[in-house]
Amino acid sequence: MPFAAFWAVSRFNFRSQNKIPPLTLAWMFEQIVILDFGSQYTQVIARRVRECNVYSRILRYDTPAREIGKLNPRGIVLSGGPASVYAPKAPMPDGRIFKLGVPILGICYGLQLFAQFLGGRVEKGHKREYGKGTLRVTDSYCPLFASLPETLQVWNSHGDKLTTLPAGFKSAAITENSEYAAVEDRRRKFFGLQFHPEVAHTPLGRGIIANFVHAICGCGKTWTMRDYIGRAIGEIREQVGEDNVILGLSGGVDSSVAAALLHRAIGGRLTCIFVNNGLLRAQEADTVREVFGRHFQIRLKYVDASKRFLKKLRGVTDPERKRKVIGREFIAVFNDAVAELKKGRATGGGRYRFLAQGTLYPDVIESVPIAGNPAALIKSHHNVGGLPRKMKLELVEPLKCLFKDEVRELGLELGLPREIVLRQPFPGPGLAVRIPGEVTPQRCAMLRQADSIVVEEMKASGWYYKIWQNFAVLLPVRSVGVMGDERTYDYTIAIRAVESQDGMTADWVRLPYELLEKLAGRIINEVKGVNRCVFDITSKPPGTIEWE
Ligand code: XMP
Repeated sequence: MPFAAFWAVSRFNFRSQNKIPPLTLAWMFEQIVILDFGSQYTQVIARRVRECNVYSRILRYDTPAREIGKLNPRGIVLSGGPASVYAPKAPMPDGRIFKLGVPILGICYGLQLFAQFLGGRVEKGHKREYGKGTLRVTDSYCPLFASLPETLQVWNSHGDKLTTLPAGFKSAAITENSEYAAVEDRRRKFFGLQFHPEVAHTPLGRGIIANFVHAICGCGKTWTMRDYIGRAIGEIREQVGEDNVILGLSGGVDSSVAAALLHRAIGGRLTCIFVNNGLLRAQEADTVREVFGRHFQIRLKYVDASKRFLKKLRGVTDPERKRKVIGREFIAVFNDAVAELKKGRATGGGRYRFLAQGTLYPDVIESVPIAGNPAALIKSHHNVGGLPRKMKLELVEPLKCLFKDEVRELGLELGLPREIVLRQPFPGPGLAVRIPGEVTPQRCAMLRQADSIVVEEMKASGWYYKIWQNFAVLLPVRSVGVMGDERTYDYTIAIRAVESQDGMTADWVRLPYELLEKLAGRIINEVKGVNRCVFDITSKPPGTIEWE
């Protein structure tokens, strides 16, 4: 999808510069602030809070207490982190957060931090406590565990141990290895957990988080996508005024939902540009034109640049060069389309002043560069090139405080079809990175057909919506086969199906043999030029999801 390529190249260059992103929403919704000390689970905490219908936002661990206070949070969560609180360069919060009069929940490192800050003692444990444990609640009045059983399965991951409680605190729960697995100072509403309530391995952890945000912080269930639509529309209208917005539509979830939301806010003053780069999947261009052009009646500028892209890709075999060629070409095509629009008359007389992007919350969270935090890693191939600033358009990013699952919910709420809202990710360079070697129109056609068989069968068997991605790869390998009475010498298709949370790591999906048999049978029979199918059983790491 072309816009995804554009998106991928643009997100690091056009990102908002503010440390605390200026989201007016911050003042509209009750919120919980999460201070990030570099845990790999910080975003999971934020998502869990939002699942309780409470808005949450992640800030750097050292955000000044004054800035936090201005946001008027109902509560603060201190995340875990890879450091030791007694290490010389341990990340420390602004100590004045403990004087804001706001409830605080410290998780793992967060607990050890506030315990040390408030006069307790943390030491290196004899052994690292890692994995499942059993928690026994010893204070049945502790509001964190209200309505939860007395014993709970929890997930631990820590090497340090709280050995002395600060004044005013008492233990609320214990595990085999810790008498301070949960601690509380009910008067100040400070709570701490040595384990991780946010992860799936703490099955009732959501209940603990719900108790913190509702019972302790007093938040209502105000964060819903239905409410969000109304408020986001107001925000968009205020930003855009009487002017016009251009959006690069790829047909992927993010740009599609952004388009539907913007259209609801400003109607005909939104123009979407859809670039066909010749590397799209079967039916892709038609679906986008049907859904957005005809059904939603959104102004859509369709640019068929497939010949232009395929010409530029002639003879290119190096994966990184392919990406660069496609990224560069996309920018050129998009620029031309914008220039054409600007030359024409905009609807309502306003100017084309804005460029809308489907930037999501994880892209604007400033990652905390603490050793051992995998969240701080950025994939290099998503960070290539750069959008020319000469486009001179201001950014509108109506999804920038949403997580992916919220964007999907919002899409459904806006009436987008499930086919679009629940679709799997598709890389910006499209089929080109699934054709190792040279990309030719014939190879694209073969792969397109094989891919559509994979998608069709995965949907029919119900697997498509359960997993992260499934697709076909056309290998540049020919092998001998027999079909009927004839000897063949044809290409190979690799089938890939992976499970993942965010694409950073992935596991191959154990598809049933019957389904694999059906896929291989159909591909070999129906795709001319293919006589062999293989199934990729590589996880990431050490492999990557795409083959290039
Ligand atoms: P890898 O292959 O790095 O892929 O394991 C991780 C996720 O990213 C997608 N991907 C891309 N997306 N531009 C994109 O917009 C790209 O160049 C690109 N390369 C990989 C991939 O489909 C998977 O979901």
